[in-house]
Amino acid sequence: MNTFDPQTFRNSFPCFQTNDLGIYLDNAATTQLPEQVIAMLNSYYLQGRSNVHRSSHPRAQMLTDQFEQARETVAQWLNVAEDSQIIWTSGTTASLNMLAYGLQGQFLPGQKVLVSTMEHHANLLPWQRLCQHENLRLEIIPVTSEGELDWPAYEALLDDSTAIVAVAHVSNSLGTCNDVAKICHLAKTVGAISIIDGAQAVAHLPVDLNAIGCDAYAFSGHKMYAPSGVGVLYGRSTLLKRLHPLLLGGEMVKHVSFNTASFRELPFTLEAGTPNIAGVLGLAEAVEFLKTWDNGRYTYEQNLLNYTYNQLHEIDGLRLLGAPKQRCGVLAFEVQGIHPFDITAWLNEQRIAIRCGHHCAIPLTEQFTQQGSIRVSLAAYNTIDEINYFIEQLKQAIDINRL
Ligand code: ALA
Repeated sequence: MNTFDPQTFRNSFPCFQTNDLGIYLDNAATTQLPEQVIAMLNSYYLQGRSNVHRSSHPRAQMLTDQFEQARETVAQWLNVAEDSQIIWTSGTTASLNMLAYGLQGQFLPGQKVLVSTMEHHANLLPWQRLCQHENLRLEIIPVTSEGELDWPAYEALLDDSTAIVAVAHVSNSLGTCNDVAKICHLAKTVGAISIIDGAQAVAHLPVDLNAIGCDAYAFSGHKMYAPSGVGVLYGRSTLLKRLHPLLLGGEMVKHVSFNTASFRELPFTLEAGTPNIAGVLGLAEAVEFLKTWDNGRYTYEQNLLNYTYNQLHEIDGLRLLGAPKQRCGVLAFEVQGIHPFDITAWLNEQRIAIRCGHHCAIPLTEQFTQQGSIRVSLAAYNTIDEINYFIEQLKQAIDINRL
C-alpha cells in the first residue's frame, strides 16, 4: 500500500495532464477516472469482448471468471460475508428502486417507512411510491438546523409498525456524515429493514458493512472513480431472497415454459440481462486503485475539506448550510443578496466546476434556503492551490455581483 501523496495520486488521472477540465470541484455529481481504470476498460474493448455466464468459448470463460472476481473484490472491500450478496446494478438509483419494487406486497397497510429530510430523491421517490401503492405511511425523520439527523425524533418515530428505515450515509447536499451503525441498530430493535444510500460515502470513508450492520447498502461506480452506468446493491441474503426481481429475462432462470418459470439462486436471480461488463470490471479496478491509496487518503481529504470550510467561513455575507459535527466531501453555501446562479455563472466562466441548485434533494434544500445552494464537492485529487483559486474567484464573483 502506498502512503498517500497528493501529487502522485493526482497524476494517476489522465484528465489532469492537460488544463482542459479546469478546476473540478463537482465530485459529488461524478468523479474522474484513473489511468488504471481506463486501461481496464480499454483492455475489455480492445482485446475483444464477450458476454459473461453464457457461452463456453475461452474468451467468455475468461471474462466470466474476471466478472466474478470483481464481485469478490467488492465483497471483500466492504467486508461482506458472501460474494452473492453483491448485486450489480446500473447505479444507486437502480439499487434503491430494486429494493422498493422488490418488497412490494410484503407489508400490512398502515405499517410505515421512515426516510429522512436529507434524502436524495433516489432514496425518497421509490419509497413514496411503495407507500402509495401499498397503503403504507411514509414518515420523515427531521433534520436539525445544523444539518444533523434529529436523533430523538428518529427514536420517537420507531415503533412496531416501522417496516423500513432508509437513510443516506452522507448527505449529497450538506455533506452530513450519519452514524449509520446507530441508525441500523435502532431500526433493528423494532424489527425494521435498514437501508443505507452510500452513494456519497464509498469514495470518501472506509465502509465496513459488517460493522454498519445494515440490511442493504447502495452505491454507484461513477462517484468512486469508476465508470458510470454501474453500481452495487448489497443485501443480506435473507432480504435479497425476499425481493421480487424488477427485471425478468436472460440468465436468471433455471427453467422456463410458456406458463411458468423457476429462478436461479442469488445473485443471478436479480441480474437479468447482459450486465455492464466493462463497468463491473472498471468498478473492481477502481476498488483496487483506491485500496493502494488508503493510507492517508481519508485524512488528506478531510484536511482539504476543513481548509475549504475555513476559507468559506471568512467570507462576508456567505452562509454555509448546516454545521454537522462530521462532514464528508461536500460543502454548500449561499451568499446574501446574490442568486446562486449568478455566482455559478462567473465560476463557469473561470472554468471552475461546481453545482448549484437543489441537488436532487428539494425537501432538504427548501428547509435551508429559498433559492438553492452552491455546492463544492471534493475528491482526493483536489489540491490546496485549486481551493485557493476557487476562493479567489468566488470573492470576485461576489464583488462583481455587489457592484
Ligand atoms: N447525485 C448526484 C449529485 O448529488 C448527481 O450531484
